[in-house]
Amino acid sequence: MKTIIEPFKIKSVEPIRFTSLEEREEILKKAFYNPFMIRADDVLIDLLTDSGTAAMSARQWAGMMDGDEAYAGSRSFFRFEEAVRSLTGFKHIIPTHQGRAAEKILFSLVGGRGKYIPNNTHFDTTRANVEFSGAEAVDLPIVEGRQPSLLAPFKGNIDVAELKSLIERIGPQNIPLCMITITNNSGGGQPVSMANIREAKGLLRQYGIPLYLDACRFAENAFFIKTREPGYAERSVASIAKEMFSYADGCTMSAKKDALVNMGGFLALNDDALASQARNLLIVTEGFTTYGGLAGRDLEAIAQGLEEVVDEHYLTYRIRSVEYLGEKLAAVGVPIVQPPGGHAIYLDAKQFCPHILPAQYPGQAIVCELYRVGGIRSVEIGGVMFGKYDQNGKLVSPPMELVRLAIPRRVYTQSHIDYVAEVVQEVFAERNKIKGVRIIEEAAVLRHFTAKFQPLG
Ligand code: F0G
Repeated sequence: MKTIIEPFKIKSVEPIRFTSLEEREEILKKAFYNPFMIRADDVLIDLLTDSGTAAMSARQWAGMMDGDEAYAGSRSFFRFEEAVRSLTGFKHIIPTHQGRAAEKILFSLVGGRGKYIPNNTHFDTTRANVEFSGAEAVDLPIVEGRQPSLLAPFKGNIDVAELKSLIERIGPQNIPLCMITITNNSGGGQPVSMANIREAKGLLRQYGIPLYLDACRFAENAFFIKTREPGYAERSVASIAKEMFSYADGCTMSAKKDALVNMGGFLALNDDALASQARNLLIVTEGFTTYGGLAGRDLEAIAQGLEEVVDEHYLTYRIRSVEYLGEKLAAVGVPIVQPPGGHAIYLDAKQFCPHILPAQYPGQAIVCELYRVGGIRSVEIGGVMFGKYDQNGKLVSPPMELVRLAIPRRVYTQSHIDYVAEVVQEVFAERNKIKGVRIIEEAAVLRHFTAKFQPLG
């Protein structure tokens, strides 16, 4: 087979700025060793997130010009609504400015004290919105999903047996909905199988509990189903996506991922009464029902992006470019979550730096070192992001300490990826010298965005 190439030509470029090792050491210090506080201009390769960082196509940019900015009933809204409806089949399509705005509206309506929301694994904003409503967010990944080095095709699956026992313990009346995140971002970007979605739905149906998808990366998930799940090889990605959505009663979506745009999202659902309440809340918090916090041009770009993202040349390149980085790292023994995820490579920080205790945040230490050595920005997904304190103020660490190298869509070429692999390999070769960090300042919620750190020793 020949090299899988980027399925696009580059029409517009953006220079990146080179810095010296000494400059980066100074920048890190000033940013209190938190990559969120580094200026993007000081980053060479930015793998902080795949969210809102995609390069739009010429057609999307053309759509931006064509956007209809009418306050009510914009033509662009109807194009957006049609694109989302034909993809998902849901009855009510409610635009929001990004994914968490859809989550905020949904959980303000169905959440609250005494309620429980199961999910394969909540993303941080989803968990925060569930908890902010007073409800409890329960992660139910399958056991394999918590074993980084284990090779399995669908490590993003929800544990259906655990889901059943939760429902029986808590009572279905206290579970307003169950979510499945496709792909499972916090669990390594791992996909969820169609069989798992179907089985979860079958169980939930018996108890009258609706199923919602957190659909940010639906196209990547659908492509994994096509390539890994028996019976789907000949199906189009769009039809696989439609089948996934057919088992759900609604979804939240951050269009900043698989709609290939820089801003946008939506809530889509079938329940008429809930949709009407959601629209009322939308008007208070986001904007009128036909724009919901977005400009007409943004709606136009989302509609176009949703068509482009299910293109199989695009997805073949997309999934392969992430896998390519994973292979290069694994080949020299760098411990990563296996198999590579759809949007990111996750370094297993516990294996990478076994000499750093979880309470000294090995992931954060590696994040800093990748920036120091090669100007690469990544993000910790471990104790900093998900750690909690018990009654005695002792840190309770999550099961996995990961560093995510998220690949923006259509932005970097193969040589950028080769460079990233070289830097990670260099950091890995010198891993024994990496020291842990301690937190010197932190916020009560979502602390990873603003926490300040100090290197130990
Ligand atoms: N759900 C998942 C699975 C996500 O990955 C994200 C965002 C959201 C919801 C929230 O969407 O940012 O549009 O409000 N993930 C980004 C990331 C931020 O870096 O993984 P949003």
